[in-house]
Amino acid sequence: MSRPVVLVGAPGSGKSTTGALLAERLGVPFTDVDTEIEQRAGRSIAAIFADDGEPAFRALEEQVTAELLERPGVLSLGGGAVLSPVTRAALRGHRVVWLQVSAATAVSRVGLNEARPLLLGNVRGRLIKLLAERTPLYAEVATERVETDARPPEEVVELLLAPE
Ligand code: S3P
Repeated sequence: MSRPVVLVGAPGSGKSTTGALLAERLGVPFTDVDTEIEQRAGRSIAAIFADDGEPAFRALEEQVTAELLERPGVLSLGGGAVLSPVTRAALRGHRVVWLQVSAATAVSRVGLNEARPLLLGNVRGRLIKLLAERTPLYAEVATERVETDARPPEEVVELLLAPE
């Protein structure tokens, strides 16, 4: 495999868990863009948002995503990566899997995790708004989609491994 399988979807869609499992099954490296950003910056995502603001985070995210798209393996993007037109253009030609999730399921998975600065305050309300804004963008970049509400990550991986 020369190009990565890319996972996109809202926070709580299971990108990181599913991505790690899929990579293991394929015997390829797994990379999570959020984790990579935190390692490079030497700070948490929450700290980057708090210290530098969202635009600075998005610029960093766009740059790291572009770089990691050149590597083989399985790549999990941040939930908001598709907001960037540059990233959406860079995704053309890749296998891009959209892990779909409802707001209700995403809330139960994300909980009150403070690591996600955009969801602080009213997690449910913010997720509903975020899904409404981003659903067309996930649809634009995806080459396939998997509904994850009623599926554990293991089952999602089986679907992704099944011959088309
Ligand atoms: C964000 C999602 C997060 C992280 C950052 C912003 C978003 O990633 O990149 O907090 O805009 O939805 P996950 O989708 O892995 O939670």
